Amino acid sequence: MRLISTLAFGFLALTSALARPSTFVERAVRRGRPALPAASLAEQKPSPVSAASSAHPTTRSSNWAGVVLPSPPQGENFTVVQGTFAVPALAPSSYAAASIWVGVDGWQQSADAQGLFQAGVDCWVEDGETTYDAWYEWVPDGSYNFTGFAVSAGDVLTYRLVAASEREGTIYVENETTGEAVTRLLAAPPLANSQLALQSVEWIMEDFFWYGQVPLANFGSIHFTNTSAKTGAGTTVGLSNATIIDLVLSGDDEPRTATTIDSDSSATISYVS
Ligand SMILES: *[C@@H]1O[C@H](CO)[C@@H](O)[C@H](O)[C@H]1NC(C)=O
Ligand SMILES: *[C@@H]1O[C@H](CO)[C@@H](O)[C@H](O)[C@H]1NC(C)=O
Ligand SMILES: *[C@@H]1O[C@H](CO)[C@@H](O)[C@H](O)[C@H]1NC(C)=O
Ligand SMILES: *[C@@H]1O[C@H](CO)[C@@H](O)[C@H](O)[C@H]1NC(C)=O
Ligand SMILES: *[C@@H]1O[C@H](CO)[C@@H](O)[C@H](O)[C@H]1NC(C)=O
Repeated sequence: MRLISTLAFGFLALTSALARPSTFVERAVRRGRPALPAASLAEQKPSPVSAASSAHPTTRSSNWAGVVLPSPPQGENFTVVQGTFAVPALAPSSYAAASIWVGVDGWQQSADAQGLFQAGVDCWVEDGETTYDAWYEWVPDGSYNFTGFAVSAGDVLTYRLVAASEREGTIYVENETTGEAVTRLLAAPPLANSQLALQSVEWIMEDFFWYGQVPLANFGSIHFTNTSAKTGAGTTVGLSNATIIDLVLSGDDEPRTATTIDSDSSATISYVS
């Protein structure tokens, strides 16, 4: 899901009167990630806050934490993004969630290329019980589950997204413990301007929206390793120039995450209570 703008908040506020889905299946079937109206795109990017405590540019978002490569090397396109993470256990809660994903163009897009190619794991805790689902999505289409790939806490998964063109991409997910893998070939949905710009890649923990922003689960920390991006020209790009995003919930002053870039190929997103 994209960064949320004020316009999107307005839209989502209208839906918040609807009943919360009562079962996990109902949620999974009905969950959609809102696409932003084109007019709001310019508002999406939070302005940089401070680079003082970090060698990396740092910014804030009301629904994202993580790391983004906001643009490819001059004249190139991002065509591959990958990262490995362990699926977190969540602290007990009556209702909370977090989504962990890797994507292309969540940060960058142009007026005529508004696609977002992404895949990850949604983690929900409800009345103390945690459920997970592994999904993939090409915005503005909704998300779909991988079937026959039941995710549990502690699974170490590698996500690799390869864009063969602005309109076609393949998602590879591998269970590092077993080598078991699932693959999905996706095409841009048949909607205007749904192709990719191939201008950003990102590794994200998202506090997403489901009839309003779901309370953020205590996910402990998420350690992304093996992170890299490649361009169509074959350049490998690591995290040395990446931008850090921390989550500041609407109405809060302080971030709810602390994100660090630990090396050229690893980063950690930690929950802050
Ligand atoms: C998504 O996955 C969950 C958990 O495995 C399952 O209960 C649900 O039916 C799936 N939804 C769809 C749309 O396949
Ligand atoms: C990954 O492998 C572990 C260890 O065999 C297994 O318990 C788990 O269910 C697997 N998860 C997925 C998503 O394949
Ligand atoms: C990348 O950018 C170049 C130049 O803009 C373009 O010709 C090409 O189609 C783009 N896509 C890929 C996948 O390389
Ligand atoms: C890194 O990612 C590649 C996929 O490109 C995968 O084959 C490999 O197992 C991963 N390595 C680690 C240490 O996770
Ligand atoms: C980092 O960014 C600077 C300024 O844009 C650029 O000159 C440099 O080549 C970049 N380094 C890497 C490793 O991408």
